[in-house]
Amino acid sequence: MKYLSKENITNKTVLLRCDFNVPVENNLIIDDSKIQKSLKTIKYLLDNNNRVITLSHFGRVKEEVDKKNNSLHKVYLYLKKYLDIVFIENNLNVEFYLKTSKSNCFLLENTRFTDIPRKRESANDLELAKYWSSFGDVFVIDAFASLHRLHSSVAGISNYLPTYYGFLVEEEITNLNVLQNASSPFIVIMGGKKIDDKINIINTLVKKCDYLILTGGILNTFLKVMGKNVGKSLVSNNEEILSNVKNIIKEYSDKILYTDNFTVLNNGKNLKRRINEVEDEDIIYDNVVNSEDYLRKAKVVFFNGTCGKVEEDAYSIGTRHLLDTLSKIDAKVIVGGGDTVGYVNKINYADKFYYLSSGGGATLEYVATGSLKAIDYIEDVKNN
Ligand code: 3PG
Repeated sequence: MKYLSKENITNKTVLLRCDFNVPVENNLIIDDSKIQKSLKTIKYLLDNNNRVITLSHFGRVKEEVDKKNNSLHKVYLYLKKYLDIVFIENNLNVEFYLKTSKSNCFLLENTRFTDIPRKRESANDLELAKYWSSFGDVFVIDAFASLHRLHSSVAGISNYLPTYYGFLVEEEITNLNVLQNASSPFIVIMGGKKIDDKINIINTLVKKCDYLILTGGILNTFLKVMGKNVGKSLVSNNEEILSNVKNIIKEYSDKILYTDNFTVLNNGKNLKRRINEVEDEDIIYDNVVNSEDYLRKAKVVFFNGTCGKVEEDAYSIGTRHLLDTLSKIDAKVIVGGGDTVGYVNKINYADKFYYLSSGGGATLEYVATGSLKAIDYIEDVKNN
């Protein structure tokens, strides 16, 4: 892997793939940590007399209407506070903006807009990759959080330009490698709600760790499979997922830890419940992890996915409690996932942990498998 930090790139036009897919509420960026991390790479390239064209996706763009809320214009307004930057509104007419502006820094509109009317960016369309690469001399990929996606702007461009990994990718890989051969006890805490997305990762991680603490919405599905009443809580109904969960429980029951302390919403009221007290009308929205004895002995902890619906104070007690515990133990604690990291930043706990990863799915893929699809692709392109 060729890192930008080891190269001397000057007087070039650099295509820089960032991940500016940040959490937004009412069109305002609520956690800017990913952008701040890539600003370091952008400024370095500009300081070395390069012209920098940044590319990123934002949100999921499946239909024309999705374009409305997923413009990168809000990120452009944010970047404008730090850079003399031009927004390329039409990412299929890049030549026009480059010709008509003297600026050295550009941001292309959401790369996923090219998925309408037919999938291009997310199908790793090489014509599209070739078009974008025609504007650069080198490609720098700083979008660690996108490296689990084989998309034109992430992987495809590497076919046409010398390719380097930016400072953020280097930082992430260096820090996440702590989890590759983690000292024992290594504890993984999995929360959040996307069980269907995370089940394969859970399957791999459970083999690597000493204990797997389940929390958040993911726990609901495990409890359902264990035959517990979870009322009207969010669970997976996908037969394949349920069967996978059943196998994990059967094979690894001695490693799996979970709480008995829940906050449920029942007919408009928030109530505390033990697991065997959950009623048919309850929706579990928060759970307080009670595995302190295990966590105190841990050497390395990886925490991904919140314990509750942290957007609401009433349901962020579990996540807050867990972060308090994690901040007081001796272990190296690595936190990943947009919502989880966003909450850590919101309560100003960032400097209490060993590392906060900018990735969600990418971090999980790297921690579980030790590699990332786009890195494998790029290295393959470069070695053939
Ligand atoms: C993320 O936020 O995890 C990355 O930007 C990837 O987003 P995606 O899951 O929509 O590809």
